[in-house]
Amino acid sequence: MQPVAAENVITVKNLLAAYEGESNAQAKYTAFAVQADEDGYLGAASLFRAAARAEQIHAANHARVIGLLGGDAQCDIHEIEIKSTLENLKVALGGETYEIESMYPGFLAEAESHNNTAAIRTFHGALEAEKTHARLYAEAIALLEAGKKDSWVGSPRDFFVCPVCGYTSETPEEHDRCPVCNCAWDRFETVS
Ligand SMILES: [Fe+2]
Ligand SMILES: [Fe+2]
Repeated sequence: MQPVAAENVITVKNLLAAYEGESNAQAKYTAFAVQADEDGYLGAASLFRAAARAEQIHAANHARVIGLLGGDAQCDIHEIEIKSTLENLKVALGGETYEIESMYPGFLAEAESHNNTAAIRTFHGALEAEKTHARLYAEAIALLEAGKKDSWVGSPRDFFVCPVCGYTSETPEEHDRCPVCNCAWDRFETVS
C-alpha cells in the first residue's frame, strides 16, 4: 500500500476523526432507539434508527476515502451512556451541532485548501445530512418538552435516507433527487 502523501496527512487525520465520530454516533443512536421504544416514543426510535443508518453511510464513505489516500480506517467505539429519551435526544442534537458548526466546516476548509475532491465530497455530504438530523432532533425535543406524545414522536413512522450521502427526510417524495448528492429519490431507503 502507498504511504499517505505528505499533503494528505492532515486530511487523513481529519477523516479518521470523522470516521470515529460517525461510527460512535451510529452505535449511540442504535442504543438510543432501543431506549426510545422502551419509553414509548416509537417515532423518536424510528428517527434514531434512520440517523444511525445515515451515520453508517457517512462512516463507510469516510473509510473509502481514507483507504484511497493510503490510510487505515480503524477506530474505538466508546461506552454509551443511556439516559431518558429526552436527554438522549439532547445529546444527539449536541453531537450534530458540533459536527455542523465546528468539525465539518474545519475539515472541509482543510480539504479545500489543497483541492482534495474525494475528501471534500465525503465531508460535504455528511455536513449537509447532519443538518437534517439536527432539524429533526430539535423538532422531537420540542414535542417531548411540550408533552405531545400524541404527535409523531409517539407513533412508529418512516424516515427516508439517501443511500449515497445519508440525507434524511420525513417525507417520502420530497424531491425527484437527493438535494445534496443528486441520487435518484427512488433509491432512498425507508427506515421505520
Ligand atoms: Fe447525524
Ligand atoms: Fe444524497
